[in-house]
Amino acid sequence: MSKQRQQQNFVHQVIGHHPESNPKLTAVKRSGKGIAPVNIALSKYWGKRDEVLNLPMNGSVSISLPGLGTETTIQIAQAGQDSVRLNGKLLEPSNPFVKRLSHFLNPFRTATVFFDVVTTNTVPTAAGLASSASGYAALVLALDDLFAWQLASQQLSLLARLGSGSASRSLFSGFSIWHMGRQADGMDSFAEPIDTPWPGLCVGLVKVDVAQKPISSTLGMQNTVNNCDLYQAWPKQAEKDMAKILQAIQQQDFNLLGQTAEHNALSMHATMMATWPPIVYWQPESVAAMQTVWQLREQGIAVYFTMDAGPNLKLLFPETEKPAIKQAFPELSIIEPFKTKR
Ligand code: DP6
Repeated sequence: MSKQRQQQNFVHQVIGHHPESNPKLTAVKRSGKGIAPVNIALSKYWGKRDEVLNLPMNGSVSISLPGLGTETTIQIAQAGQDSVRLNGKLLEPSNPFVKRLSHFLNPFRTATVFFDVVTTNTVPTAAGLASSASGYAALVLALDDLFAWQLASQQLSLLARLGSGSASRSLFSGFSIWHMGRQADGMDSFAEPIDTPWPGLCVGLVKVDVAQKPISSTLGMQNTVNNCDLYQAWPKQAEKDMAKILQAIQQQDFNLLGQTAEHNALSMHATMMATWPPIVYWQPESVAAMQTVWQLREQGIAVYFTMDAGPNLKLLFPETEKPAIKQAFPELSIIEPFKTKR
């Protein structure tokens, strides 16, 4: 079966569309709108067991950052091609961002239908946060609105996953868990919210470099899975870490949360570095920031970091440590996920 057909079947299974009898792909209003937050994985997704359906090798747990994310509107286009406006700028059809988005939209239309998509990131670009997660989550919410599917969050998560794995976790506020699933059809690989708030938990964004990363997550994980002998240890550790993160959340055990998240991130980066050719997202300033975090811990300050496929650090610390952390990282943007309401 072709890749396109496989994705189409998956989408039809999720939205309950039967091509002959069910007009699920008819816009019921002029435009659909969706808003979704970015998320940061505390125990990470790195590697796919199925690249067509975006099925992960392991489960992951994340925290969403309220107020930072993507707002998207979608409508049926009058012109004979898709158009994408990103942060106020109309992109060229040849732009890789447009191509990826158009490809994602294919299962949601017949050959003669095109879309106008307007998408705005409320993440200051300068924050250096990835936006594909909030981007695809917002796009799926906009489609749900346009076609009035009224899908449950589990279905929305399945669809967002197809756009970008981490997007499956961006439909929720607070903590989310993305279950790896076992089925070949991917219907059991979705995220859901973990309904345990953690008042006082802070996330700090350390900006090292906000330029586009040298290699995308998609390509980076593909190379790691194929060309890294250390990779086989990763899914096992990731599953163990996920259990520890869940325990830390339930018990509000900050040190367990921080230690596990930092170890998990460093282990993921270790598999990238042990790939050939190597994948190194770090810059000298990333390592300097790690050393500052370790020095703070030596002084008894509770702070840990995590890092995604880029050079920027995300710090985790309890509210009580704010003054000390601000002193060590004067430029830090601080987010309190359980305080700020959207
Ligand atoms: C390091 O979700 O961006 O941030 O599924 O190929 O779009 P694709 O990858 P993506 O990968 C995210 C990788 C990560 C870890 C994480 O968010 O869990």
